Amino acid sequence: MNKIPLPVFSLLLLLLTRLPLTAQTQVVPAGNVNSVSISGQQVKIKTTNAFAEVTVYSPSIIRVRMDKRPLPADFSYAVTAKPLPVKAQITQNNSEINIVTDSLKMRIQKAPFAVSFFSPSGDVISEDEAGLGTSWIGDEVTTYKKMQENERFIGLGEKTGNLDRKGEGYTNWNSDVFGYAANRDPIYATIPFYIGIHHQQNYGIFFDNSYQSDFNFGASNNRFSSFGARGGEMNYYFIYHPQMADIIRSYTSLTGRMPMPPLWSLGYQQNRYSYYPDTEVYRIAQTLREKKIPADGITLDIHYMDAYKLFTWNKDRFPDPAQLTGRLKDMGFRVTVIVDPGIKVEEGYHAYENGKKENIFIKYNDGQNYTGQVWPGWCHFPDFTSEKGRSWWKSQVKSYIRDGVSGIWNDMNEIATWGQKMPNNVIFDYEGHPTTHLQAHNIYGLQMVRASYEGTREALQKRPFLLTRAAYSGSQRYSAIWTGDNRAEEDHMLLGVRLLNSLGVSGFPFAGMDVGGFTGNPSVGLYTRWMQIGAFIPYFRNHTGVNTKSAEPWAFGEEALEITRNYVNLRYHMLPYLYSTMYAASRTGMPVMRTLALQNTFDPQVYDTRFQNQYQFGDAYMIAPFESTKDFGSIYFPKGKWYNLYTDAVTTGGQDIITPLNIKTLPVYVKESSIVPMQSLVQSTREKPADTLFLHLYKGSQPNTFVYYEDDGESFSYEKGDFYERAITYDPAQQTLTLQRPKGSYGSQFHHIKLILHGFDSKQRITVNGSATTVSAGPFSFLSPISRFDPQGSFIPAESCPVQVATFANSNELLNVGL
Ligand code: NOJ
Repeated sequence: MNKIPLPVFSLLLLLLTRLPLTAQTQVVPAGNVNSVSISGQQVKIKTTNAFAEVTVYSPSIIRVRMDKRPLPADFSYAVTAKPLPVKAQITQNNSEINIVTDSLKMRIQKAPFAVSFFSPSGDVISEDEAGLGTSWIGDEVTTYKKMQENERFIGLGEKTGNLDRKGEGYTNWNSDVFGYAANRDPIYATIPFYIGIHHQQNYGIFFDNSYQSDFNFGASNNRFSSFGARGGEMNYYFIYHPQMADIIRSYTSLTGRMPMPPLWSLGYQQNRYSYYPDTEVYRIAQTLREKKIPADGITLDIHYMDAYKLFTWNKDRFPDPAQLTGRLKDMGFRVTVIVDPGIKVEEGYHAYENGKKENIFIKYNDGQNYTGQVWPGWCHFPDFTSEKGRSWWKSQVKSYIRDGVSGIWNDMNEIATWGQKMPNNVIFDYEGHPTTHLQAHNIYGLQMVRASYEGTREALQKRPFLLTRAAYSGSQRYSAIWTGDNRAEEDHMLLGVRLLNSLGVSGFPFAGMDVGGFTGNPSVGLYTRWMQIGAFIPYFRNHTGVNTKSAEPWAFGEEALEITRNYVNLRYHMLPYLYSTMYAASRTGMPVMRTLALQNTFDPQVYDTRFQNQYQFGDAYMIAPFESTKDFGSIYFPKGKWYNLYTDAVTTGGQDIITPLNIKTLPVYVKESSIVPMQSLVQSTREKPADTLFLHLYKGSQPNTFVYYEDDGESFSYEKGDFYERAITYDPAQQTLTLQRPKGSYGSQFHHIKLILHGFDSKQRITVNGSATTVSAGPFSFLSPISRFDPQGSFIPAESCPVQVATFANSNELLNVGL
């Protein structure tokens, strides 16, 4: 090769360094507003470098879309809502555009383009960071918001770390993370919704972009919080309400809410990787019954299949699946089976042959089916982003329903493949707008559970139970979620609590974790404590890995068994309370496991890392989870009065108290004025409880209403009005408890009410619709005594509450109870 003479080379070098910066090296800001077009609730804007569209979705929700290209047709897998007709005033002058609704104000500055949001009284809620705003680096787009003084951040769904995410950065890329470290990010799910809190105000931002996204809450910077993605549009919904619960209600009005789950799925579920053959499954079911551990579910992990091939049964291990599910149903157990998306490439295997024929697998850009390795070996993967792929899957999952299965556990749907590096040149149909793995990856799990839900719902004609590992915002419309392969370690138990609390404020009320830990073997103490906490988790299942020791409640000795039984029993007593709370979640998006930040948003103590694991289970209970190894724990009591669940001892809120801990009781407190409906003990939800509803009322100074809910627990007839919904209101000033006339056509299964008064005068008098009712006083225990197994074999007596009790008929008339 000829050498380039030195002077020419120097000239070339000079020219190259003077050339304009390439797209990847330049930060391209939106620039100034050049044109504005206002129509109804929408403003379309052209800036120097971008196109923007601002749409009022509701008085409290404004959507901002921006791209360097003209904005394409609108499409989202997450958002199902359309903008509501809203009275919005949109005006402009030379320097700004102003949008005013009843609940929110927005100002769009024109030079340069920058947005700010204000409360109706003019308080700054959120504003673009001056000088940064929204910009692009190549295809990557990011919006930078000014970091407000003392701003906190919560949410983003299944994210490790502290409750307050200030100072941290996070990435969304659904990942298969076996035995993940307690600070690992990302893990399995993408829920790009967070809540910012500052100056007695809070707001929500939902960034609906499925590309790999990054959130920065002041990590390595003291200037901004930001959210951005490696491709696609800037597309976010700004939500403002004074109360956090309303922000969650608005967020779930966009992305949808959980349908009512089948009642059985709220009972205790026994799992392991894997129970087989069928005789082992019967043994587990039988032992649960013999040892009187109430339970409703048994889950079959991958070993039920023939060589891990989906939609098959291993006939040596499970010769007659329909007989198995039928016999288990008679014993009060429902069966959930695991499904993975990978279809084994094997000639003659019906799902493979049929999937190939129907042409439903995802493909490389040259049209060849993508092949990746997972449990069965080399596999193809259905394209759940196409109607055709989903219909194919729906017809396949129906075979499980024919075999009597009641639940589908959707695993490995990140997509997980060995090697973890799925190629980006794999193409997904994306409802007829083909796109690469880059955009479709985080959506895949959502679309898989959609297909599983729709298929099983159609086949069952009753509520199916669905569980998923990977998710995107909106998956709550179809499925419960669990937090994957955690470790049998104390910090993982507490991390799990935070993950579930975070999922709760991010639109996923039906969530669980592997109680007891998936990898490794828990100590007796850890297992016991985890099972206690499990009773206060929406999806309560015990699960463990393939090569771990047995982890059923009887595998840890007699004392652990008794303690575990006590808490599983308590869970079953609580079912009317939990079912009503799930109903509220399905109507409003209100979480079931609630970080204390939900109701005490501006109390700095609830974010203190000493107290951040505390949570409410529904409206009444506050749980203080601690490592099983601790003898003392510091518990924070938010404002109000709190009753100790077991003794009724009262603590006044606004203080933290060092409390002695012991393994037989989980610290649980009840908020003053709470109303908690309970039932008699059953061994599964198939068994009818006694026809008396136990209504616990805790004396307090605040008025309170609990919406009690019942239906048949399994069908969809509640959607047509066949339910029983009754508001129960406690008015301390009037000293009354009022049970309103029930709504709906369903008749309550409880014909009597036993009112159990906590904290009331020992000479309490009670009238029902004016007539005096007999009151008896006595101790009430939520737990049974525990055998101590000391040489004397004596019992540790259960703690008890001094209560007053009155029983009366549960008529559908308005019942006015005078206290
Ligand atoms: C991974 C899941 O996270 C785990 O729960 C399951 O037991 C294994 N896959 C085997 O199916």
